[in-house]
Amino acid sequence: MILGLLKEQMPETRVALLPETVAAFIDLKVEVIVETGAGKAAFAEDADYQAIGAKSASRSEVFEKADILLMIHPPAEEDIAKMKDTQVWISAYNPLWETDLVQSFLNRKLTSFSLDLIPRTTRAQSMDILSSMATVSGYMAVLEAALRLPNFFPMFMTAAGTIRPANVLILGAGVAGLQAIATSRKLGAQVQVFDVRSVVKEEVMSLGAKFVEVEGAIEDAAAGGYAVEQTEEFKKKQQDAINAHAAKANVVICTAQIPGKKAPVLLPVQAVEAMKPGSVIIDLAASTGGNCELTKDNQTIIHQGVTIIGESNYPAQKPIDASRMFGKNVFNFMKLLIGKEGELQLNFDDDIVKGTCITHQGTVYNERVKAIIEKK
Ligand code: NAI
Repeated sequence: MILGLLKEQMPETRVALLPETVAAFIDLKVEVIVETGAGKAAFAEDADYQAIGAKSASRSEVFEKADILLMIHPPAEEDIAKMKDTQVWISAYNPLWETDLVQSFLNRKLTSFSLDLIPRTTRAQSMDILSSMATVSGYMAVLEAALRLPNFFPMFMTAAGTIRPANVLILGAGVAGLQAIATSRKLGAQVQVFDVRSVVKEEVMSLGAKFVEVEGAIEDAAAGGYAVEQTEEFKKKQQDAINAHAAKANVVICTAQIPGKKAPVLLPVQAVEAMKPGSVIIDLAASTGGNCELTKDNQTIIHQGVTIIGESNYPAQKPIDASRMFGKNVFNFMKLLIGKEGELQLNFDDDIVKGTCITHQGTVYNERVKAIIEKK
């Protein structure tokens, strides 16, 4: 089997596989061709890929020769048009939202996998690109906030007096939120945390943060570790509590999300206007609308002295380690698709393969995507 590694479009700086991970594929008897310049922005030169046995090729040659086409980002419509009937597409293409792309793959009867839908199960943990990228973004969110804040994060006891530690409020304690807690604590801030899943309380506390409990949250064990929609009564109670904490915070890091839905608005305009001038909000949920009502995706705005940052691709600011983590996750997943002689094998009896497969021979395999497509 030939694996084709495609170059991302700028401003993306990551690459789906660094040379070290390409080497691991070659050990499994997979041939790898890499689009010229694919790793350059992540500091991996074509020569580095060639040195471990991969070939360099133009984009059209990769499309011509590869059995599997691999990228981080979704395909352009013209990429799908260029694909051969037997080729397999693998990237994170957000099929719960990008239903037109799903339809394009279906129309062509092509096989496509979307890495953002790898099930959140114990066996699939080493393949979970969302967790890896959320780790990077939780870390980066705090570093950006610390740089922008006109105060220090840690407490300082100096000859010029005592400086109080910064107050950081974190909304959502999933992967990004937990990383944001850990990083804020390492920098010496005091941290308060909201989440609707009570199971995270212990983790939050073990990182040295305070978990603010609001009674009456709906939890669903069947949601696979994700949050579910809340009642209006709960939302109102939660809103009052968040507003009170936001008014005392120097930094708010927003990470709350419900998969496939618009991000819940947890910081309305009034809450922002009650915050101290100079405070910083980092909204990691910007690409799905943001947890802050004022967030603009990929923009920084200042509202009544409060800086609101809606950066949607922090992983691109740490391209080496983000690519390393992404590549390792892809490799662990793709091992399920590779036979003993390096051949492609599609075993749909495997729940991870089936759950991550979006389209195959004109059928939608992933159940959540299927439900959305059938409703359209
Ligand atoms: P996750 O699903 O693991 O965590 C989200 C958390 O929010 C969950 O613990 C959930 O229970 C909680 N939550 C949901 N609704 C809530 C509510 N109403 N109130 C309080 N908590 C609530 O998600 P993960 O992987 O941590 O990602 C977090 C966000 O970061 C997502 O929006 C994701 O798209 C985004 N992200 C942003 C990146 C960037 O560079 N800006 C990169 C990677 C992810």
